[in-house]
Amino acid sequence: MKSRHETHKASFSSGVIRLGLVVGLGASALLLAATFAKPSHAEVINDDTPVPAVGELGGPFRELNAAEMEMFKRGRKLFDRDWKQSQGLGTEMNADSCRGCHQTGGFGGSGGLDLNVFRFARDFGDPLLFEDLPGGQAGSKIRRPDTPGREDHHPDADVFEQRQTPPVFGLGLVSDIPDAEILANEDPTDSNGDGIKGVARMIDVGGVVEVGKFGWKAQLPQLLDFLSDAAAGELGVTTPDNGRGFAALNDTDGVADPEMTPDEFTDGTFFLMLLAPPPRVGSSDPLVALGEQVFEDVGCATCHIPSLEGAEGPVNLYSDLLLHDIHGPTFRGMSEPGAGVGFYRTVPLWGARLSDPYLHDGRAETILDAVMMHTAEAEGVRQAFEALSGMEQDALIKFVEDL
Ligand code: HEC
Ligand code: HEC
Repeated sequence: MKSRHETHKASFSSGVIRLGLVVGLGASALLLAATFAKPSHAEVINDDTPVPAVGELGGPFRELNAAEMEMFKRGRKLFDRDWKQSQGLGTEMNADSCRGCHQTGGFGGSGGLDLNVFRFARDFGDPLLFEDLPGGQAGSKIRRPDTPGREDHHPDADVFEQRQTPPVFGLGLVSDIPDAEILANEDPTDSNGDGIKGVARMIDVGGVVEVGKFGWKAQLPQLLDFLSDAAAGELGVTTPDNGRGFAALNDTDGVADPEMTPDEFTDGTFFLMLLAPPPRVGSSDPLVALGEQVFEDVGCATCHIPSLEGAEGPVNLYSDLLLHDIHGPTFRGMSEPGAGVGFYRTVPLWGARLSDPYLHDGRAETILDAVMMHTAEAEGVRQAFEALSGMEQDALIKFVEDL
């Protein structure tokens, strides 16, 4: 346990981990241990588990009628389910339940470094880019020990990048933000000369282009796409064909497909869509009010836009949902079509107090560390932060902790 954390820390200066280093410490043990959920293996939700009140952490964001409440509870149980092999778990997976990774700060929350997911690639000497492996980054899977050809990663992989587990609170409100609302904030050529660009990730869904809103590289457009994608990628569970192309429809584990039934998929989507955003702490400390002003003044709000207009009214997520490069030209990593090396989605800051560590791979232990790691497009803003008085910096951090 201890050595695993030290391994992560030792290698975070480069942002990626060289397999050579890890192999020296026992690669398969590390990978297996790191991707199977540790804090709680057991299901935590049963039929009597109360649903928190409207707007509370773990509750719905609006009143539910009796039928909706039943659906919310069924969806919550699905998120909690420890999938068994007889129900379709694997053969390739990273864990056996959604909750297993999403539980820091509350049910549906984030995950610690020990639960990070790995993306594998090959270092072919390019100054920035790592090469995708055959089959893309989906090589980052664990296979059930009884699976023929079992391997922890592609044999050509010699580097991997990590992805920290973000919380899923409030994401239904994000899913319903119209694409046009996000596109209105794009500035691909930096036309206003503030050094900050911001581009939307455009995803082709069966010939229709949609804005990517979810994932560190904004790789998925709608919240239900993440249910399909995570069921396939994290649990090895097949889901119904909704025509959007993000589901695994069949696998070879002998369990009838789809392993998550259409009704279960509807319940799971409903739960995720209705789950409330993290409530504001609402501290009356005058430093928090000062911090809000400073947050605007130094320019954090240029990317971490306090509010976008959603289908149900304002969504106070503190993000523009656009991709920015805040890492700069020395950052080496992986790219995806439409999201180059170093480009990540502005992370919503609501609930940030509950979801440490920070940034796409968890390299920042605290909110302050995360701020100090902003460079490139955010260079001017970070410098403005550094020029603040100690009290103003403190106020700004207190404000973020209040969100
Ligand atoms: C092995 C750990 C793990 C498991 C199990 C897991 N997730 Fe995740 N989840 C992650 C990671 C890591 C990310 C970030 C992935 C990325 O963007 O590359 C993520 C991202 C998400 C997001 C997007 C959050 C955002 O802000 O964009 C949603 C939604 C989500 N997961 C839902 C689920 C559901 C539903 C399940 C169960 C079917 C599940 N996850 C199982 C680790 C996990
Ligand atoms: C140019 C756009 C931009 C500006 C300006 C900016 N950020 Fe960010 N911020 C981002 C992006 C993009 C990420 C995610 C980067 C990653 O994960 O590698 C991020 C991540 C963060 C995180 C980590 C959150 C998490 O859950 O992992 C915090 C905290 C944060 N920003 C706070 C701030 C504060 C405070 C300011 C002002 C001092 C600021 N940011 C200015 C774009 C910006």
